[in-house]
Amino acid sequence: MRRLAASFCLAVLAAFGPVPATAQDAVRLAAPQSLVQTGLMEYVLPRFSLKTGVRVEIVAPDAKADLALTNQSAGTPVFRGPGATWSLMRVGEGHEDAARFAEWLSGEIGLRTVTSYEVDGTALFTPPPVKEQKVVEASFDGDAVLGRKLSGDLCGRCHTVTEDDRMSDIGSTPSFFVLRAMPDWGRRFQSFYALNPHPAFTQVDEVTPPFPMDRPSPIIPVEMTLDDLDAILAYVSALTPADLGAPIQHQ
Ligand code: HEC
Repeated sequence: MRRLAASFCLAVLAAFGPVPATAQDAVRLAAPQSLVQTGLMEYVLPRFSLKTGVRVEIVAPDAKADLALTNQSAGTPVFRGPGATWSLMRVGEGHEDAARFAEWLSGEIGLRTVTSYEVDGTALFTPPPVKEQKVVEASFDGDAVLGRKLSGDLCGRCHTVTEDDRMSDIGSTPSFFVLRAMPDWGRRFQSFYALNPHPAFTQVDEVTPPFPMDRPSPIIPVEMTLDDLDAILAYVSALTPADLGAPIQHQ
């Protein structure tokens, strides 16, 4: 397809003579062979060009370029795939379409295009890691009243979270009272978003990576902040733990 486009351009050039360089110059994107060989670029670039009319041409890492994709930790991380996180860097001055490509590739549509590339039915690329997963500091000084409301809104779909619905707790999902009775309940709540089944449907601002493009949340996602989690922790810390050890009383 790229070859076709190239020969078409040559034909146009031959027919009409040289066109003004600024209008026709391809954006030069430097990329190492290891990345080019995955076939990703041949998949992604025509899709960008089709939409924008802007051509992007791959050049060797040491060639003169407008943009560079590197696996060094410089530039903006744009995707991750086989064994490396790839970042996009501006290396040249002033190609007006370079910014356009950079914006597209680092945006939602570019990422979706990258992550939809498959070899033999397997996606090779994923979104770049957002940040190191933060360890939430133990903190029980959140707003417990807010925590009660948030527990109901965010967790109450599956967990029994208040006394009021405690008696109707017949599900297999542990109630907050049962969880509160566990010696390490604090650790479990602090990291609940990393414990199954929550990662598939939970987004904590600035902590969890986005859902993989090919595996969106199967249910309406739980979306929250670390402050929300602090409030929930404050609420749970004040709950009376379920008495797990009590034998059944017979009268
Ligand atoms: C869609 C249903 C669902 C929602 C919503 C949900 N949970 Fe859970 N949660 C579960 C299930 C199911 C388990 C039991 C998992 C198991 O036993 O392996 C669980 C287990 C837990 C555990 C114990 C995890 C462990 O491995 O020790 C904690 C803590 C927890 N949930 C906290 C929360 C909090 C806090 C919220 C709300 C912000 C929440 N959950 C929202 C379904 C849900």
